[in-house]
This record gives sequence, structure tokens and C-alpha cells, in this order.
Amino acid sequence: MRLKLNPKLNLIWPLCIRVGTVVGQSVSASTNASSESPQASSAPSAPPISTIADPASFVLPFIGTTNGGHVFPGATLPHGMIKAGMDTDSPGNHAGYDGDPQFNVTGFSQLHDSGTGGSVPLSNFKIWAFAQCSSFEKCPTSLASRKLLRKVLPNGSPDDFASPGYFSTNLTNGIRVELTATRRTALHRYIFPAGTAHPRLMVDLTNDGQRSSTEPAMTLDPETGKVEGGASFAASFGPGRYKAFTCVTFKGEGYDLGKPTEYGIWQGNFPVQGSTSILQVYYGFVSEMGALFTFPPAPRNARTSILVRVGVSFISSQQACANADEEIPDFGFEKVRTEAQEQWNDVLGRIQVDTHGVDKETVQLFYSSLYRTHISPADYTGENPKWNSTEPYYDSLYCNWDTYRTLYPLMSLHDPVTFSRIVRGMVDIQKHEGWLPECRGATAQHFIQGGSNADPILGEFFVKFHEHAAALGVSTDDLYNALLADAENEPPNWNLQGRQANAWKQFNYIPQDMFAPGGANTKQASRTLEHAFNDFAIAQVAKVLGKTEDAQKYYKRAGNFANIWNPNITVPGAPDVLGMVQPRFANGTFNFTDPRHCSIHDPEMATCFLNAARRDGFYESSPIVYSQYVPHDTAKLMELQGGLEKFVSRLDFIFGQGYFDSTNEPSQQIPFMYHYANRPGLSTQRSRQTIAQFFNASTNGLPGNDDSGAMGSYAAFYLAGLYPLPATRQFLLSSPYFRQISFFNPVFNTTTVIRSKNFNGNPSTGTGGRLFVQSVTVNGQPYKSNCYLDWDVFTSGSVIELTLTDNINVTCGNGANALPPSLSTGGYD
Ligand SMILES: *[C@@H]1O[C@H](CO)[C@@H](O)[C@H](O)[C@H]1NC(C)=O
Ligand SMILES: *[C@@H]1O[C@H](CO)[C@@H](O)[C@H](O)[C@H]1NC(C)=O
Ligand SMILES: *[C@@H]1O[C@H](CO)[C@@H](O)[C@H](O)[C@H]1NC(C)=O
Ligand SMILES: *[C@@H]1O[C@H](CO)[C@@H](O)[C@H](O)[C@H]1NC(C)=O
Ligand SMILES: *[C@@H]1O[C@H](CO)[C@@H](O)[C@H](O)[C@H]1NC(C)=O
Ligand SMILES: *[C@@H]1O[C@H](CO)[C@@H](O)[C@H](O)[C@H]1NC(C)=O
Ligand SMILES: *[C@@H]1O[C@H](CO)[C@@H](O)[C@H](O)[C@H]1NC(C)=O
Ligand SMILES: *[C@@H]1O[C@H](CO)[C@@H](O)[C@H](O)[C@H]1NC(C)=O
Ligand SMILES: *[C@@H]1O[C@H](CO)[C@@H](O)[C@H](O)[C@H]1NC(C)=O
Ligand SMILES: *[C@@H]1O[C@H](CO)[C@@H](O)[C@H](O)[C@H]1NC(C)=O
Repeated sequence: MRLKLNPKLNLIWPLCIRVGTVVGQSVSASTNASSESPQASSAPSAPPISTIADPASFVLPFIGTTNGGHVFPGATLPHGMIKAGMDTDSPGNHAGYDGDPQFNVTGFSQLHDSGTGGSVPLSNFKIWAFAQCSSFEKCPTSLASRKLLRKVLPNGSPDDFASPGYFSTNLTNGIRVELTATRRTALHRYIFPAGTAHPRLMVDLTNDGQRSSTEPAMTLDPETGKVEGGASFAASFGPGRYKAFTCVTFKGEGYDLGKPTEYGIWQGNFPVQGSTSILQVYYGFVSEMGALFTFPPAPRNARTSILVRVGVSFISSQQACANADEEIPDFGFEKVRTEAQEQWNDVLGRIQVDTHGVDKETVQLFYSSLYRTHISPADYTGENPKWNSTEPYYDSLYCNWDTYRTLYPLMSLHDPVTFSRIVRGMVDIQKHEGWLPECRGATAQHFIQGGSNADPILGEFFVKFHEHAAALGVSTDDLYNALLADAENEPPNWNLQGRQANAWKQFNYIPQDMFAPGGANTKQASRTLEHAFNDFAIAQVAKVLGKTEDAQKYYKRAGNFANIWNPNITVPGAPDVLGMVQPRFANGTFNFTDPRHCSIHDPEMATCFLNAARRDGFYESSPIVYSQYVPHDTAKLMELQGGLEKFVSRLDFIFGQGYFDSTNEPSQQIPFMYHYANRPGLSTQRSRQTIAQFFNASTNGLPGNDDSGAMGSYAAFYLAGLYPLPATRQFLLSSPYFRQISFFNPVFNTTTVIRSKNFNGNPSTGTGGRLFVQSVTVNGQPYKSNCYLDWDVFTSGSVIELTLTDNINVTCGNGANALPPSLSTGGYD
């Protein structure tokens, strides 16, 4: 049954946080809805399932907080702007935190990104507490002087705790810190050691993680301790800057805090008592400054506990104050924490798994991965300083290149309303800036990574939700025009938005030797592949709209990947692996890049990161990996590679020789590509080996940066036994790690269940066992393929039943439509 959305609801969505309950039935896990027998039955039956009441309790926020995962483990709402967390002096503190307790704590700041590279983003407005300064003036306020270690537990891990919407730690100075959050306001609690005579709290206005601040402005109110201020800061992955503002107020817990007994502005290590404005003490450039207060301790030797409410805004400090007053008027820490957890349970609980016969760690891995899918992008609605608009505004698109493959398709399955709001925000950016965002942080444009990869995100939304677009507030015309702008108009600086569109249209590839103005002439081969897929996404939208000519035009351009295929290139030592994508000159001849370039076997050990010194055509992955990167036309790729057997042996070569790169997104589909050779058992095995080898529930359980949830959503799909083809109506199918998994979709008000007959657990190595999909039924009827599912099964709410076998030689089936679609073999319906 389809739900007709009341268009009036759109008007309140920007203000309404719990969108999931506005539309459709809430299958919020916390409501303990009807609970089903864990036994899989063979007859299809009514789907509603809610077996896990509190999925947030399975989330381990510390996964990926050591060894370069850069995951943010602090307090945030789903897609909240506030991400309140601990900052450390770790060199890997892109999200502030590091799970290794050898690193000192430098403060508790309010914004952050999760899993990103670049410079440290958004560690703004740190709060810090002192229990033992000998006097106000002697407080070591500078970051280097104040920092100290966390307590360490007997097992060697830091004494930190985190759950969705909450974070706490015990510092070695005896102060306990707790954090929780609403969308635009953080709430901190500082509990001082017993007997603290002079509890002191400071606000650090300038240390953003990069020491980039300029134009600091701040005042404090000596009567109340209220601090208002802001500064300008550097973006982290682009040339831009942004302004951020804060409004900090204090409240005693269990007692009336009264007036601060001492107050003042500090610069570096020098607090100046009695000063109330930075202007009074600020004579030249000082990188560190803020406010410091001494408060009366709690009476009768009770432990002093002080709440610090930190509103943030990208518009003004007045707005930061208004945000704080509106969202946390009463400083109710437990209430805010509970509401945050409920919001998390609402979104996480829409995907339910049967835990029977499954390790707890697998369930934790699943919900933690799903959790990280919902940290970014961040909902900055009402906080866009660049233009006024009634549309939602989402930021921390960091970057669409990372997230388009798996994050948005996962949102299609269970969080389409948030997805629609993000799409509206992107379309609104295009209307005001001329091109869709590719990478964006802290309201500034960041460097593109190759494609104009909002295109497949908009395509993903429109192909799947076009019938609901208007009800969800998405203008079809605006969306389509935004796609055409990316496809056709060359921007002034294609390092920051859009594409090198003129070269693309003229040559049907991006030539290596064309030094067009407006961008760095790099990654020409990988950009060619990206634009081919981007145009495929546009063609898919045109097709839905019945714009036949446009669809033909963009499908044709989607075939441009073949223009950079050089059939004569081999890998040293593997003469059978013949044919690679390569950089090509404007005159049509090919240049040569070693296929091992930027792999673990690269003789030159290059990385192909954005700032790599050598510029030879590829971004963040080897030519070998990019020679698999044509998600929309694998059949054509198979042909270019010499047919089915060669295709399979090349995949085996990629895994056998370590060319599969778990740390970067262009490899994400490779384990599933055996599907196209009618060998889905091999996909099942490779994808499960990928999880076994590279993903686990430890703090180091990620193979690299989480990339704003790109890796989290990827792992969640693999555990669900699915892999998405963005901007299509198909999902590749394997066996889920759970006897049963269900997806509730609030726009359709339907639940789709995938059940496995013969399920007998998940071998820890990923190999062997009864894992292979032998046959598939949908609502009791045999399905056309064992290798993919059409979107219809999810819109209507279906019971999908898989019969599993231990025979790896399963096939996609015998019917005409058994193999997953490809552009050159009939395309996508
Ligand atoms: C959603 O579906 C359930 C049955 O599955 C029904 O009880 C409920 O009324 C529906 N909600 C809406 C808003 O249509
Ligand atoms: C759900 O059930 C659990 C276990 O029976 C119970 O502890 C919890 O309070 C229930 N939650 C709700 C919201 O009813
Ligand atoms: C952490 O701080 C302590 C003292 O505050 C210092 O001894 C130690 O070297 C610091 N650790 C790091 C990694 O900077
Ligand atoms: C910190 O210490 C308190 C006792 O004061 C304890 O309850 C808590 O579990 C400790 N750990 C964290 C992370 O809060
Ligand atoms: C948005 O509107 C407000 C109120 O009219 C105005 O003060 C502000 O300058 C506008 N912002 C922009 C970026 O146009
Ligand atoms: C590949 O080799 C064949 C045979 O030597 C040659 O005809 C063809 O031009 C080569 N193609 C490219 C792109 O170098
Ligand atoms: C094609 O262009 C490249 C690079 O500009 C040049 O080195 C090469 O000689 C040209 N080849 C032909 C056949 O013009
Ligand atoms: C051809 O490739 C080599 C090796 O990557 C590179 O150094 C050279 O600059 C490229 N030639 C042109 C004209 O881009
Ligand atoms: C967990 O995953 C990380 C990252 O892939 C890996 O380095 C580590 O060895 C794994 N740990 C275990 C116990 O498997
Ligand atoms: C699967 O096929 C391979 C090669 O055809 C064969 O060696 C193997 O025995 C088969 N496995 C099973 C379980 O039938």
C-alpha cells in the first residue's frame, strides 16, 4: 500500500526533527511492536517485525577510532549539526578523538566530521575544566599547557564510554565529562573531584584543530557567565573559509550556580581577570583565546557538577543563543540524552535483524555500520550563511564521490525522507551556485574527487522515488535542470564543482594533455570513468521522465568509458590480464601508466591522493581497479576483457595478488562482480572474505577512513547480503548474515523481509558453510533471478525467501532475465 503524503507536511519538515514518525507508521524499535517468532517459516506471512527494541545498544561508536579510521564517536543526532566530542592531540584527530589513550585530551568541542581526510575539520569552541589551578591567573589555558591524559582501564583501553547521542570520559585530573546533543546545541556536564574549592571552566574560541582562526570576537557577561562570540576558520579540504559562532551558558546541577566569582578573557596562558571582551586585551595576532570563569562550588561538600550549554550557529552568535534556548531551554541532560537515543532507535530500528544463530559481534558490526551511515551529511537547515532559502540545507558532503555508491542507496531502503531533504538541499545549492555540490564542508566548497557525483545521488533518488518526489518536496524540473548544469556547463573552477564539460563533450573522454583553464589537469582517466557513470545516472532520470532524446544522448555518453580502454596493456607477470583503462591524449593516442600504479605493488609506491606529486591519470586507486569501474555496463567490460573466462580469472587475479583495495571506494563493487559471470557463489565468498578480513568491531576495525559513512554503509550492505547499483532499480543479491533481515520504508509504509531457509550461521573466515543462494522466491513465487532484486519488491513490501546451499557453484538462474542488467545488454528497466 502506498501512502499519500500530505504536501502540507513538507512545510513543517525543516522544523520537525522526528521525520520518521511524521510519515507513515513508526516501526520504532522502542515501541516493542509485534514480535515475531524467530523461526523462519516457509509460507509468506504478514511482515511486521520488531525483534530488537533498542538497536542503539548494539552500536559501538568506537569502531574506527584508531589507525586512521577517523570516526567520530561523540554525541550527535542522526545527521545532527552538533557533533560534540573529545579532542585529542593525536596526529589522526580529524574527528577530534583517538581511541589510543596515549594521546592527550585538549578539549570538548561542538562540531566535527566523521571519517574524513584533509585537514582537521570543525573542532570548534572547545570547553575545558580546571579543578586545581593555584589561582585564576595561573590556569594553564593554552592548548599545549592544559592538555592531559584520560584514565586508563585495567585492560589498557581509555576510560571512555559512548552510545548513540551520548559520550563520557574520566580525565586523570579527576574530572568526569559527559556530552549529549540536540541538532544545533551541545550539552556538557563537568563533574569535579570531591572537595574542589574553585571549579573553573573555560571556553576556547579559536582552536579549531588547524589553528586557522582569524577575526575572533567575543564578550562575556560577568553576571551570568554567558559567552557570545565567533571567528573565521579555514575549511579542511578546499580553499574556502567559514564563520562559526557560539553562545555558552552555565548551570549548576543540584544547586544554584549564581554569579561567577572570577571571570576574564585569556590569551595563550594569560587569563586577565575582570576583562569582558576580547577587544580589551587583543592587540595583535594571538592564536589562542577565550573566556575563563571560577564558579562557586556545590554546597555541603557535594561533588560539584556544572552543565555547559553550547549553542552553535553559522549565522550569528545571537542565533546560536536562540538555538540553545529553543532546543535545550531547561538544561535537562537526561531528557536530551533519552530523546537522542530515541531518534537513533527510530532510524536504526527500521532495519531489523534476527539475532538467532549469529554472534553478537556480527549484530554489533551491522548496527554500528548502519549508525555511521547517519552521522553525515549534517542537517544545517537554517544555518546557511550564503543565501536565504526555505529549502533544507545539508552540509558535510564529504565527499559525494565517497558516499554515492552505498550511503544513499541504503537511505533509499529505510530513510527516504531524510534522503529527499538532502536532495532538496543539493538542488538548492545548484540553484544558487550554478552547479551541484560534489564535496562540501563547513559551508565551503571542497575539492572534487573526480566526478560530479551529486548526479548519481539525485539519480538514485529520482529513479526510486519519482512518484513521491512532489509529495516529498522535490521539484522534478529543478532536479533535472541541476543535472543538466553538471552535464553541460563548464564551471569557472572544475576543481571545486561541476566537470571539465567542454573537453568531455568535444572528445568523449578527458584528454591528458589538454590544459584547459579552471582546474588542475589531473586524474583524467578516472574522471572519464566517473563522468560516464554520472551521465548514465542522468540518462536514467531522463528515461523516467520520458525525455527519450536526452536519455539516448546520455546513455551514449555513458558508454564513453570504452574510449580510454587500451586493449594492449598487460600487467608485468600476468600476460593474460590484457587491456586496461589508460590516459589518452587529445590527438587520440594513448599515454602509458603502469597498471600497478597506486597499488600495493606499485614500484614507485605512489598514492594517487589529491596532492600526490605525480599526476598520471588516476585518483586513489590503481588502473587495475579502475579497469573494473563501470558499474552500469559490466557486460561491456567483460567483452573488453576478453569474455567470461578472462573476466573471472582477472577478478581472481585482483584478489589473489592483493589489487583489491579495501580502503578506497572504487574497489567496493569488485567482490560482487562474479554475479555478471553467472558465478554468484564466488561473489558471496569474496564479499564475506572482505568483511572477515577488513571489518570488525574493534577500535581498529576499519581498513581506512570511514569517509563520512561510505565504509559504514558499504559494510552494512555486505552484511545484509545486498550490493546496490545506484540510480537503478536493482540491488545485487547474496546471502545476508542473518536468518532474517527486514527493511521498513516510511514513504511506502511497507516492510520487506529477506529470510534464508537452511541458514546455519556465518563462518568467521568468510569461506565454506551453507551460504550460497540456490533459489529465490518473492511472496511465495519463484523469482526471475537469484542474483538481484528489483526495487518493486521493496516498494510493495515483500517476503523474499532464499534457499541456501553449501555448493558454491550456484547460478543466477536459467531465465532470460537471470543475469543482472547491463547497459549494453538491454539496459535497465
Ligand atoms: C501503515 O501500515 C500499517 C499496516 O502495516 C497500518 O496499520 C497503518 O495505518 C499504515 N499507516 C499509514 C499512515 O497509512
Ligand atoms: C520493550 O521490552 C523490553 C523487554 O521486555 C522492556 O524492558 C522495555 O521496557 C520495553 N520497551 C517499551 C518501550 O515498551
Ligand atoms: C601528554 O601529556 C603529558 C603531561 O601532561 C605528557 O607527559 C605527555 O608526553 C603527553 N603525551 C603526548 C603524546 O603528547
Ligand atoms: C568514570 O567514573 C565514574 C565514577 O565516577 C564511573 O561511573 C564511570 O563508569 C567512569 N567511566 C566513564 C566513561 O564515565
Ligand atoms: C537573510 O535574511 C536576513 C533577514 O532578512 C538578512 O538579515 C540576511 O542578510 C539574509 N542573508 C543573506 C545571505 O542574504
Ligand atoms: C594494439 O595492438 C594492435 C596490434 O599490434 C594495434 O593494431 C593497435 O593499434 C594497438 N592499439 C592501441 C590502442 O595501441
Ligand atoms: C599526440 O600527443 C602527444 C602528447 O601531446 C604527443 O606526444 C604525440 O606525439 C602525439 N601523437 C601524434 C601521432 O600526433
Ligand atoms: C605521460 O605519462 C607519463 C607517466 O605518467 C607522465 O609523466 C607524462 O607527463 C604524460 N604525458 C603527458 C603529455 O601528459
Ligand atoms: C580488524 O580490522 C582491522 C582493519 O581491517 C585489521 O587490521 C585487524 O587485524 C582486524 N582485527 C581482527 C581481530 O581481525
Ligand atoms: C564446483 O565446480 C568446480 C569446477 O567446475 C568443481 O571442481 C567443484 O567440485 C564443484 N563444487 C561442488 C560442491 O559441486
